[in-house]
Amino acid sequence: MPIQKVGVVGCGLMGSGIAQVAAQSGFATVVREVSQEVLDKGLKGIEKNLARLVEKGTITEAARGEIRGRLTGTTKLEDFKDCDVVVEAIIEQLPVKRELYAALDGICKPATIFASNTSSLTIIEMATATKRPQRFVGLHFFNPVPVMKLVEVVKSIATDDAVYEEMVEFGAKLGKTPVRASDSTGFIVNRLLVPYLLDAIRALEEGAGSITDIDNSMKLGCGYPMGPFTLLDFVGLDTTYYIADIMFNEFRERRFAPPPLLKRMVLAGWNGRKSGRGFYDYADPTNPKASNL
Ligand code: CAA
Ligand code: NAD
Repeated sequence: MPIQKVGVVGCGLMGSGIAQVAAQSGFATVVREVSQEVLDKGLKGIEKNLARLVEKGTITEAARGEIRGRLTGTTKLEDFKDCDVVVEAIIEQLPVKRELYAALDGICKPATIFASNTSSLTIIEMATATKRPQRFVGLHFFNPVPVMKLVEVVKSIATDDAVYEEMVEFGAKLGKTPVRASDSTGFIVNRLLVPYLLDAIRALEEGAGSITDIDNSMKLGCGYPMGPFTLLDFVGLDTTYYIADIMFNEFRERRFAPPPLLKRMVLAGWNGRKSGRGFYDYADPTNPKASNL
């Protein structure tokens, strides 16, 4: 049976982007959050993005209505029972994800495929919370999801070959270029990107340059679209901290170790752009000011 209905768990930075792209790609999409308040915030972000696409002439007003019509928000996991695929994009913490998958396993039909958007956990350690590890893959999207063209499709040692191929095809149907990655911590992109981002924080701690000068160096000197601190704030410092901690535990190499400054900022609730403060202060979002650290 072709995939018709997609479930997305989490409507934060990534879940909202994945839900938007799934609805834009023609799938009936249901997205779940922990409370109505958080759900409304995520849906509002999607509506803002769609309005911008209409303004730019990328989609018509009628298409916006159809896309919005395909998208339903919920706070109930039971609404995933007849989904063909469920993409999970909740907090990067293994016990929380395992608890969710165990619950979903009891609710979803046997044919439902589970796909995690995890940045750094291995797929097998989540798949074993279910009785369907053969129908479990990684689908790792990139932030902002509506714009970034890549999806890493991850096969665990237990993933069925046909399920994997179906998910590669699904990634392409979402308008992304799928790359095949093995179930190795950080897959391809984060294995290379995370040490770079953490090194930028270490460079700041060691006084190599200021936040603005390090950002400008990588932007103007190397042509990166964002400097590392702008990107860290964009990804979320809490998420980066979880990712680094998981990768360090796996590889036991300093390049993956979360720097003390990152930990202190997360403890202070400075989680980056989404919390209004990180390496930059977003009191005026159009003109972020480097934080005094
Ligand atoms: N949602 C939807 N669309 C967005 C958006 C968002 N959050 N932010 C920007 N856009 C769109 C804009 O509307 C614009 O569209 P058009 O070209 O159609 O007008 C386009 O993106 C470009 O935006 P801007 O002109 O405002 O700004 P920009 O040229 O600086 O591009 C950017 C913004 C695409 C985010 C760019 O800065 C960029 O590529 N940054 C790097 C992002 C990156 O590295 N992402 C990966 C993070 S790591 C990860 O995701 C993995 C992980 O596990 C942590
Ligand atoms: P986020 O903090 O913006 O959003 C996570 C959301 O999940 C929150 O809104 C939270 O309320 C919700 N949530 C928690 N438990 C839930 C549950 N049981 N059911 C439904 N919703 C639940 O985080 P994010 O940046 O969107 O990251 C989500 C996942 O995507 C993580 O695994 C992260 O590693 C991964 N990821 C993040 C990025 C990035 O750049 N931020 C990129 C790729 C992958």
